[in-house]
Amino acid sequence: MKAIVQDAYGSADVLELRDIDRPVPADDEVLVQVHAAGVGPDVWHLMTGLPYAVRLFAGLRKPRNPVRGQDAAGRVEAVGAKVTRFKPGDEVFGVCEGSFAEYARAKADKLAPKPRNLSFEQAAALPISGITAFQVLRDKGRPQPGRQVLIIGASGGIGTLAVQLAAGYDAKVTGVCGPGKADLIRSLGATDVIDYTSEDITGGARRYDVILDIAGNRPLSVLRRALAPHGTLVLVGGENGDRWLGGLDRSLRALLLSPFLRQTLRGHFSRERHQDLLVLKDLAESGELTPVVDRTYPLGEAAAAMRHLEDGHPQGKIVVSVTDGS
Ligand SMILES: NC(=O)c1ccc[n+]([C@@H]2O[C@H](COP(=O)([O-])OP(=O)(O)OC[C@H]3O[C@@H](n4cnc5c(N)ncnc54)[C@H](OP(=O)(O)O)[C@@H]3O)[C@@H](O)[C@H]2O)c1
Repeated sequence: MKAIVQDAYGSADVLELRDIDRPVPADDEVLVQVHAAGVGPDVWHLMTGLPYAVRLFAGLRKPRNPVRGQDAAGRVEAVGAKVTRFKPGDEVFGVCEGSFAEYARAKADKLAPKPRNLSFEQAAALPISGITAFQVLRDKGRPQPGRQVLIIGASGGIGTLAVQLAAGYDAKVTGVCGPGKADLIRSLGATDVIDYTSEDITGGARRYDVILDIAGNRPLSVLRRALAPHGTLVLVGGENGDRWLGGLDRSLRALLLSPFLRQTLRGHFSRERHQDLLVLKDLAESGELTPVVDRTYPLGEAAAAMRHLEDGHPQGKIVVSVTDGS
């Protein structure tokens, strides 16, 4: 089968399209014929091995799994002996081991039936970003109707979904994004938009009950100034270029500081769960959540997709199309 493979950590230049053996699913796994794969910072971290902390589980000297990609949507090709939830031919979406490939293995509990109304490309945009946005709001942010929610990084893979989900709680959502994206963010349910290149998040009089900090890596002091006295700040992401810990140090400082404040400061690590994929499926099928696909690249151009991601300004999720789904 064709797959995007790397032998060493590095920039997108290390990615090569090669013919390799089809993976064999273990007893609790499913073999998925991949139709589309999502491109996100998770793939970038595994490609570069940065921050170095990533290498503790991904392989110290080189990637343990040489095939890149995690998010996927496709059809079940085969199931392991203990898998009862799926059968060959089922359309699924979820998180695989190496989805930039014609076939990929996945734990059965990291897959769910694909939302019927979504294309494979849209469904591939949903798993990791959708799970993150959903878990952050349900478990950490918990916005109340009418409360002010600020979403920093509103135009990216997670942000475009978080804006829709927060609006679904009937919160008043303000999205923070770069130039030219205000119309998109409003169309997803935001009532206000801040262009961070011309306006500061602390500029106006408004203070926010919930802040989801997804991108930009602003200092805690700045974020706290924008937060209401009893508000909740959730640190979701933000690449700060630190080669050892990435943005982890900011989350640790927030954790240590929070008990001494009236404000609540929290970090977040999402967990890929079947039950949450099912919720995303229902939300997509009811029309409450529609993934935004930025651009689609053919499998052979996965390196170009990664370079586009590295530019840092996708509008929704970048997707690699592996087969046409027919
Ligand atoms: N905690 C977790 O469990 C978890 C899970 C998945 C991902 N993450 C992390 O979450 C972060 C975002 O992931 P993603 O998939 O949404 O990334 P993404 O799709 O690459 O989007 C990032 C967005 O941030 C915006 N941005 C860049 N600089 C900004 C700034 N200074 N202020 C505000 N927005 C800015 C960019 O658009 P503009 O053109 O609008 O600037 C871009 O659309 C990453 O750091 C990722 O590693 C965390």
